[in-house]
Order: sequence, then C-alpha cells, then structure tokens
Amino acid sequence: MGDIALITSGKGGVGKTTVCFFTGVALAALGRKVLAIELDTGLRGLDIMAGISQQTVFHLGDVTEGRISADRAVVPCSFCPNLHILPAPFTPGSPIVPQKLFELCRAASRFYDYTLLDAPAGVGEGFRVGAYAADRAIIVTTPDIIAARDAGVVGQLLDDFPNIASRRLVINRVEPRDIAKSSVRDLDEVIDLAGAQLLGVVPMDHTVHLSATTGAPLPAKGLPARVFANIAARLEGAYIPLDVQ
Ligand SMILES: Nc1ncnc2c1ncn2[C@@H]1O[C@H](COP(=O)(O)OP(=O)(O)OP(=O)(O)O)[C@@H](O)[C@H]1O
Ligand SMILES: [Mg+2]
Repeated sequence: MGDIALITSGKGGVGKTTVCFFTGVALAALGRKVLAIELDTGLRGLDIMAGISQQTVFHLGDVTEGRISADRAVVPCSFCPNLHILPAPFTPGSPIVPQKLFELCRAASRFYDYTLLDAPAGVGEGFRVGAYAADRAIIVTTPDIIAARDAGVVGQLLDDFPNIASRRLVINRVEPRDIAKSSVRDLDEVIDLAGAQLLGVVPMDHTVHLSATTGAPLPAKGLPARVFANIAARLEGAYIPLDVQ
C-alpha cells in the first residue's frame, strides 16, 4: 500500500500547492507512481503547474460522487508521466464527503506509491477531510513566526486525527542568501513553533514561480530541483543531512 500524505499549512499562500507538486515530480523522478489530489474546491492550481489545464475535463467531485471512475478523471502531468493529477471540483465550496475521499485514497494507494492531498488554506472542512483520509502530514510554512505559529496550530489540530502517524515540516520561500550562510539552527524558532520534524528548506526562487505558472519542470541543475530531490529522497527514507538543503 502506498503512502497518503496531506500537504497543509494553516496560513494561506505559503506554497502548499507548489511543494505538493514539485515533491510529486521529484518522487516520480525516483520512479515512484504519484497521484496529487487537489482539495481546494474552486481554486485550482495543480492543473496549471502540470501543464494540463486544457485537458482537465473531470474532477475530484465527479469521482467521489460516482459520476466517473478515478482512472478516467486523472490526467498525467505534461512533462512527468508518473505523476497524475486529480483536480479539485470546479465550483467553489463544493463539499467533499470525508468517507468518499477516504475510500478513494485507500483505492489509490493500491496503485500509487504516493497519494498527495493538496489542502486548501485554513483549518476548515477541506483540511479536516484531508486529515481524515491521510496517514501522514507535510506541514508547509514560510520562515516567519506568523506562518510558523499557524503551522503549530495545524500540528495541534492534527492530534485529533490518530490516523496521522507522522508529520514533517517544509520551510518554503527562504531567501537563498539565508540558506547559504545559515544552518538549520537558524531556523530553530520556526521549527519549534511549527512543532514538526524538518523535511526540507526550499529557497525563494523565481524559477519556482516561473515553472509553476508555465507548467514546466524546474531547471534540472538549479537549487530548487536539488532541494525537492532531497525532500523526495528523505520521504523514501534516505538520510540526507539538512544543513545542505
Ligand atoms: N519557493 C518559492 N519561490 C518563489 N515563489 C514561490 C515559491 N513557493 C511558492 N511560490 C509562489 O507563491 C505563490 C503561492 O504559492 P502556492 O499557490 O503554492 O501557495 P498555497 O499555500 O498553495 O496557497 P493557497 O493557500 O491559496 O492554497 C505562487 O505564486 C507560487 O508560484
Ligand atoms: Mg494551494
């Protein structure tokens, strides 16, 4: 059975969808089969990052409400065929039935090595539905105490979900010069507030934004691609020291 991971944050706009997508790409590059499911109803983004916005006909709601089978609704990423995308319902506020998502994720985990659930901002229904279905969480924050404190709140709320066996932290949008001169110790306060074990530190980098908004891969030799490759390797259980991204 594959892993089912919820990508969540509390605070909006910190990079959940970006981290979800490029982590999925990096896992796929390791030969893993990955499904990314977007829970942000009406506020889609994964389809653009994957370069498939013209091909998405069906969505998560079509699957959970039984109108179409999952294999007909998922679309492979335009540049990474091992990564499949299931877009969020197109209508804002469409409810996702927790049990249906749970069953879909369990069925997906027989076929996919990783099912990544891209949660919406906040700790409302989308977060809860995702937390109910997942078996681990990746909490995303930016390196500021407001986002980090929200990440900590999310971590506490995840205590209500005993199915979430582990939680890891990605600190996103860290200034590269800070990464270069600092060590994990300098991010200690953020890690303490967020209350989760560090999985990766992603630089603030225009190529991340450019790739995400044009549906293209990250430049292969750039720092962001290396960082996501390391995140994927750590999820796979490899030991890669965090001081070097
Ligand atoms: N490491 C990064 N470097 C540069 N830009 C980034 C980085 N991470 C994310 N961004 C940009 O920040 C913006 C927000 O990212 P994203 O949509 O992934 O956040 P989110 O947490 O999913 O937002 P929401 O809470 O609305 O779902 C996007 O324009 C994205 O391209
Ligand atoms: Mg998002």
